Amino acid sequence: MNIKACIFDLDGVIVDTAKYHYLAWKRLAKELNFDFTEKDNERLKGVSRMASLDILLSIGGLSFSEKEKIKLAEKKNKWYVEYISKLDKNEILPGVEDFLRKLKQNGIKIALGSASKNSMLILNNLQLVPYFDTIIDGNKVSKAKPDPEVFLLAAKELNIPSEYCVVFEDAEAGIEAAKKANMKAIGVGSKDILKKSDKIIDCFKGLELNILEF
Ligand code: BG6
Ligand code: MG
Repeated sequence: MNIKACIFDLDGVIVDTAKYHYLAWKRLAKELNFDFTEKDNERLKGVSRMASLDILLSIGGLSFSEKEKIKLAEKKNKWYVEYISKLDKNEILPGVEDFLRKLKQNGIKIALGSASKNSMLILNNLQLVPYFDTIIDGNKVSKAKPDPEVFLLAAKELNIPSEYCVVFEDAEAGIEAAKKANMKAIGVGSKDILKKSDKIIDCFKGLELNILEF
């Protein structure tokens, strides 16, 4: 097998935090007197915090100064952190921990490649930190997916060339970032959204290492 490292997105791949992001953004929208639906929330998946706020405000038809926007994003994040503080191991998506264990047993390196600035809190609560050889998140990169920065930095930290890396992603922008980084991309979720991925899986349940054969 050629693959020497697996890089995982966090939100939507390891844990379903989209519902907590949704609750927090909806609460902010409510405070600003407009409704924010679950369908609208699809547009925020994989998108950075400030870019998500811009989308939310465009849905509400509102505009604010940069300073006000930072305050609004902080408010949303405070609520979001309250929700994810209660996360525990039971919320790890099915099959993920088994798959991480198989990778470790077979000497394949493991990295996180996420846009989130809350990744350490989440991974700590899920008790998954020891599986990761490196954790690259929104605190370490400045360019959001589809820019490949987050995955390239992960590969660099692992000291493994891009062509030996596989990225697991649930967002279109993440698949695009993986392809730009010259890595293999495995989409987790729907065929319609993740068209550009090399392979697609529904979830990690029962997944074997032969998924890494290309
Ligand atoms: C991504 C999520 O992983 O992280 C987005 O898919 C989220 O929905 C982004 O906006 C930033 O997360 P955070 O935790 O730093 O606000
Ligand atoms: Mg994601």
